[in-house]
Amino acid sequence: MRKHLIIFVLLVLASSVAEARKTVIPIETEHTQLLLAVRDNGVLETLHFGAKVADPEAFLAFDTGRGEDNGDGPMAYPTAGGRFLGQPALHAKYADGTHNTELFYVSHLSRPAGGAVTTEVLLKDPVSLLEVKLVFVACLKEDVIVTHTEIVNGGKKPVELLDYASGSLYVDADKYLLTHFYGGWANEMNIDSEVLTHDTKVIESRRGTQATQCSNPSFLLSMDTDRLQENAGEVIAGALAWSGNFRLSFEMDESHRLNVLAGISPYASAYTLAPGKAFVTPDFLYTFSQRGAGQASRNLHAWARNYGVYGGGQVNPTLLNSWEGAYFSFTTETLLRMIDDAASMGLEMFVLDDGWFAKDYPRDGDASGLGDWEVNTAKLPEGIDYVASYAHSKGLKFGIWIEPEMVNPQSNLAHRHPDWVVQSPGREQYQSRNQWVLDLTNPKVQDFVFGVFDNTMKLSKNIDYVKWDCNRTVANFGSMYLGEEQDRFFVEYVQGLYSVMKRIREKYPDVLVQCCSSGGGRLDYGAMKYFNEVWTSDNTDAMSRVYIQYATNLIYPACVMGSHVSAVPNHQSGNVTPLKFRFDMACSGRLGMELQPRTLTERERALADRCIRSYKQYRDLVFTGDVYRLASPYDGDYYALMYVSQDRSRAVVFTYCVKYQNRAVGARTFRMDGLDPARRYKVTELNVNRSCWWGNGQVHAGDFLMGGGFNPKLLRTFDSAVFYLEAE
Ligand code: DGJ
Repeated sequence: MRKHLIIFVLLVLASSVAEARKTVIPIETEHTQLLLAVRDNGVLETLHFGAKVADPEAFLAFDTGRGEDNGDGPMAYPTAGGRFLGQPALHAKYADGTHNTELFYVSHLSRPAGGAVTTEVLLKDPVSLLEVKLVFVACLKEDVIVTHTEIVNGGKKPVELLDYASGSLYVDADKYLLTHFYGGWANEMNIDSEVLTHDTKVIESRRGTQATQCSNPSFLLSMDTDRLQENAGEVIAGALAWSGNFRLSFEMDESHRLNVLAGISPYASAYTLAPGKAFVTPDFLYTFSQRGAGQASRNLHAWARNYGVYGGGQVNPTLLNSWEGAYFSFTTETLLRMIDDAASMGLEMFVLDDGWFAKDYPRDGDASGLGDWEVNTAKLPEGIDYVASYAHSKGLKFGIWIEPEMVNPQSNLAHRHPDWVVQSPGREQYQSRNQWVLDLTNPKVQDFVFGVFDNTMKLSKNIDYVKWDCNRTVANFGSMYLGEEQDRFFVEYVQGLYSVMKRIREKYPDVLVQCCSSGGGRLDYGAMKYFNEVWTSDNTDAMSRVYIQYATNLIYPACVMGSHVSAVPNHQSGNVTPLKFRFDMACSGRLGMELQPRTLTERERALADRCIRSYKQYRDLVFTGDVYRLASPYDGDYYALMYVSQDRSRAVVFTYCVKYQNRAVGARTFRMDGLDPARRYKVTELNVNRSCWWGNGQVHAGDFLMGGGFNPKLLRTFDSAVFYLEAE
C-alpha cells in the first residue's frame, strides 16, 4: 500500500498539475467545448460538454453538487473499481483475479494539424500499471469531436479487458430524449424515441457481420424536451465507427446526470492483452447543436464529407443496376441491351449485380456458386471485359457485384477449405440464404477475400465500381483458426475486414466501392472510411424510402445514400407509386435505376430522361450541400428537405405528400431554410410540364422564401414537387 502511495505521489508530481488545484484541458471546436480537468487527487474529470464558454476556468468555481467528491465532476473515462459504481467505460480483470482499476493523470499534449486539433491525455493505474491514452480529435469548423482510447498493458502478466468503450460522454439536463434507429431487412432505419428514465438504456448488436441491420450505432439526444425538434433546442448526435458488434449505453444516475458510453460490444469478446501489448478502440464521434437535430446532422455530414466517408465530397455517377431488372437470368445480350438503354436515358454507369460467376456450381440462384469467383462462361461466353468495354464504348462506366466474405456449401471453395468457414466444433453450421460466413480472423481468408476483389478487377481494365455485398449474420460463431481464443472472434473479424479494405484502398484508390449488406445492414462510419456509398435498403418502394432515407440522413450524408427507381409493384411492395414520385424520391440521394428499362412506356421514358437530365444540374448540391429538413414524415403528412450550396447561391428543394389531404384543410406551406435572406433566387420547378406553384419561374427574395414560404399544393398521397433555386 505504501509503495502504491509513493508511486501515486510521484505521478502527480511528474505531471504539470503539481501546483494547481485543477488543470483544465480544453478540447474545442468553433462552437463546442469539452472540458476535462485534473482533480487535485490526479483523477481526470469531465467539467463540461456543450456550448463554448470563453473562460473555461469559470467552471472550476462551479459546484454542481452532484459529483462523487463533494462537487467534483464525473470521471472522464470511468473504470470499474475504486469508488465508481456505475457502468464503466473500462473493466479489466487482472491475473490475480482482481477487478479494480483506478486511473490517474500522467500528462497531456495537444497538437493542431489542418482543420483539427488532436489532444492526448495519458492516464495510468499505479497498481496494475495499465496505461490508458484518451485521444480526442476536435474538428474545428465541423464542430465534431472524434475520440478513441488506447489501452496498454504495462504490467508483467496478461490482463483481460471485459469492457473497453471508445469513450464516455457526460451530460447534464433535466430531461433526455433518446432517438435511435431499428429495423430489419428491407425495413432499415426506423425511428424509436423515448424519454430516458433512471438506470441504463442499452442499444446493442450481436449480429457480427450484418451488425447494423437491426440497430444502428448512432443516436440523437435531445435535452429538456420530449420531441425531436428540427431547428430548436440542444441536441447531441453521436455515432460509433465500427462495423461489428457494438454497444451504446445511456445511464442516468441518481443525480439525473447522464453518461453515454459507446464502444465495441463486450458480448463474448473479453479481450486478453499480453504484457506490453496495446488495444486501440474504434472512433466514437459526436457533435453538439443548439439548433436542434438539423444543425447536428449538418455537422455530422460536413465531418463525413471531409473526414468520414471515402471519397466524400465528390459527385458519384448515376447508374442502372441489373438486379431488379434481370436478377439471375441474363445473357450477354440482356446486359448489352440494358447498357444501350442506360446510355440512351443519360445514365452514367451500368452495374452488373449477382449471377455472373461460378462454373461447376453456377450462380443461377442464391443456393450455389458463392466462393467460386470465375466468370460463368455458359452465361457470358465473351467474358466480363467484353461487357465492360461495351459499356465504356457507350460512354458508361462499369460496375460489378461481389460477396467475398461468404461461401455457398455448394461451391468448390466450401469443399476445398471447410476450415475457412465460421463454425463451432460439433455444432450445426446453420445456413442463411443458403450460405456460410468465411472466417476473416484467419489471415489466409483475408488474403483470399482481398484476392476476390483483386482478381475481379483484373477481369477488365474497364471496371470502375464494385458493389461489395454481405448477406447474412453470424450463427454458432467460432473460428478454426483462433483455437482456444474464441473471445477474439467478433473483434478480429472486423479488424480482418478493415485490413483487407486497407489493402484494397492502397491498390485501388480510385475505384468506387459500394457497401451493401442485404441493403443497409452495414451502415456505419467504420465501413465508410473505405466505402464511397451504401446501398441504403433493398426496399426501393418510394414511400418506404421516405422514412428510410429521412432517418438515414439524420446521421449519414446524402452522398452515401444509393437510391434507385424500380418497377411497381415490385418484390418489396404492392404500392403502384407514380414514376414522378419515385424519381423525385430517388433524386434526393445518389440517383440510380433498378428495373428493366424496356418495360417503361414512351411517356415514362420521356419523364425518366427529363428527371435524369435535371438531376445532373443540381446533384452537386445533394452530394456536397447542407441539408435543411422542412417537414418530417414522422410529424405529419409531408416530407420536405432541401440541400443548399456552401455559398448559399444555389439550392434544391424536395417535397412529398405521404398521406391524403382533405382539400378543405388545404395543402401545406413550407418555409425554406439555409438561404441568404438578403439575396434573390430564381425558383424553377423541375420534372413537370406545368408547375403547381404560382411563384414558379419567378425571382423571390430569400427572406420571403424562408419567412413566407411556398405552397406546392400537394394534396394527395404520392404528390411530389422538386424546385431548383439559383441566386441572381
Ligand atoms: C442483396 C442486395 O441488397 C441486392 O441489392 C442484390 O445485390 C442481392 N443481394 C444479390 O444477391
